[in-house]
Amino acid sequence: MKVSTRTEKAVVEKAKPETDTHSVPGAPTFVYRDGLLHVEEVSLEDLYRTIGPAYVYSAKRLTENASRVRKAFSRAQTLIAYAVKANTNPILLRHFYELGLGFEVSSGSELSVALAGGASPERVVVNGNARTDDELVQVAESGAYLISVDSEEEAVRLEAAAAWLEKQGRLPAPVRAALRVNPDVDAHVHPDLATGIAESKFGLPPDRVLSWYAHPEWAPHLSWVGLHVHVGSQIMTVEPLLDTLGECVDLIERVRARGTRIEVLNLGGGFGIDYEGKGELALERFADAACMVANNQKVQLVVEPGRYLVADTCALVGQVLFVKRGKKSFAVTELGMNDLIRPSLYDAHHAIVPVRQPAPRAERIEMDVVGPVCESGDYLAKGRKMPPLEPGDLVAVTAAGAYGYTMASNYNGRGRLPEALVSGKGIRLIRRGETWKDLIRMASDLPIRISDDVPTESEAPAASSAAHAAPSASVARPAANIPVFRPRAMAAAVSEGLRRRKHGREGAGEETPTVAEPKQENKKPKRRR
Ligand code: LLP
Repeated sequence: MKVSTRTEKAVVEKAKPETDTHSVPGAPTFVYRDGLLHVEEVSLEDLYRTIGPAYVYSAKRLTENASRVRKAFSRAQTLIAYAVKANTNPILLRHFYELGLGFEVSSGSELSVALAGGASPERVVVNGNARTDDELVQVAESGAYLISVDSEEEAVRLEAAAAWLEKQGRLPAPVRAALRVNPDVDAHVHPDLATGIAESKFGLPPDRVLSWYAHPEWAPHLSWVGLHVHVGSQIMTVEPLLDTLGECVDLIERVRARGTRIEVLNLGGGFGIDYEGKGELALERFADAACMVANNQKVQLVVEPGRYLVADTCALVGQVLFVKRGKKSFAVTELGMNDLIRPSLYDAHHAIVPVRQPAPRAERIEMDVVGPVCESGDYLAKGRKMPPLEPGDLVAVTAAGAYGYTMASNYNGRGRLPEALVSGKGIRLIRRGETWKDLIRMASDLPIRISDDVPTESEAPAASSAAHAAPSASVARPAANIPVFRPRAMAAAVSEGLRRRKHGREGAGEETPTVAEPKQENKKPKRRR
């Protein structure tokens, strides 16, 4: 076990010119006013007295962020599809939708949340590298603007679902689909946030996209209208995004040369934000290039920013319980890794500032800022130089709006905290905090009857995913008159059909839609900057 032997270090920070009002790193709409941190017109101290620890959002900043992205991409026809996974609060979704944004969803459940809020499916793009059987049907039937398909296997499964829906008279138009290309571009992000390198599980190499697109007849119920790419998250330099754009142009031209029309280019999200006050991503530079490409290539653009739209709109506010001093010092707060897991999971930096403005020349002590969770990995910051903190002081953990609440958990029996949205002087509670009662709400003690009458593969119902589980505790069995999607049988039939077609053309050198790597054309060296 590694034990830190670092001794406590006291450093006097250089005095910065302090004004009466200034913002804090990672949260431009959170400013000190009269010595207290405010969000818009609301004092965080007053708010804490009323609701306790919470995620606090600024409506003004949500609007500013959306406007910046819209403006950046305004030179081309662009759907700004907010990546719902960053923050799923329905009130935030409504805010963005009313500003003209659409949504990117990555599961059937996120799709349900987006549509339940009244979103038009024409403003929704659906992603994900794999879907359950139920999700395939839900997604194929949704009428979404674009459905990303991550592999040949998923293409076959989606085709099977669409064919099945058509048989039921439930498919008014072919499903609008786009293969996801993996361009093998290094986005220089945390390894777990890299999705566009060859080692990543996401997408297909360009040559396999090309092979598949050469045969639209392989999936007659899908309409291949686009191309999807997303190379990572928290990307801070524009070069990998430009490289990716170049790869897409190249691929669009090659695909078109083989007769497939490409109308939509979905460039994904991943735009990084300035967590530490070290500098911003030149989003407009990328957007200008993307718009130019869209106009030259005559394609509609989709971008899927999540973090960029919500991260810096929020601070997570909580109390310091005490400071434990020793060889190493710890500020022990009521906020833990279950409230914000990013520091523990990705070693991510979030600025942590006291709600009462410290004196400009206050001594800074190096310490870990930790929580009450029974894990040594429970920290919000490690080795951070903090101003003096006393029990009862409030701190704001900034830029907590993206992947904060959505990755929060009930670990150690801790309820998820409430969310509040501030607009000017107005405050709305947009999600209640959980209590211990919520933790036992889903418990049950119902008998489960396993049927003796095991259905055959051709009769078997699709396995219910959690999001669409049957309400009864007994095994979900369809009534005789409710048709059930039999994905394995259908997908096998589709694959078999494809195999037969291929054999029919033997000798013609056709690519197969199998998982085996086809011959690579123009294999390029990996791009690593
Ligand atoms: N589109 C696709 C296909 C994605 O996979 C993602 C994020 C996005 C868009 C939105 O990416 P963003 O603009 O938010 O970077 N939990 C991690 C981030 C995981 C991102 C997953 N995919 C974190 O806390 O940093």
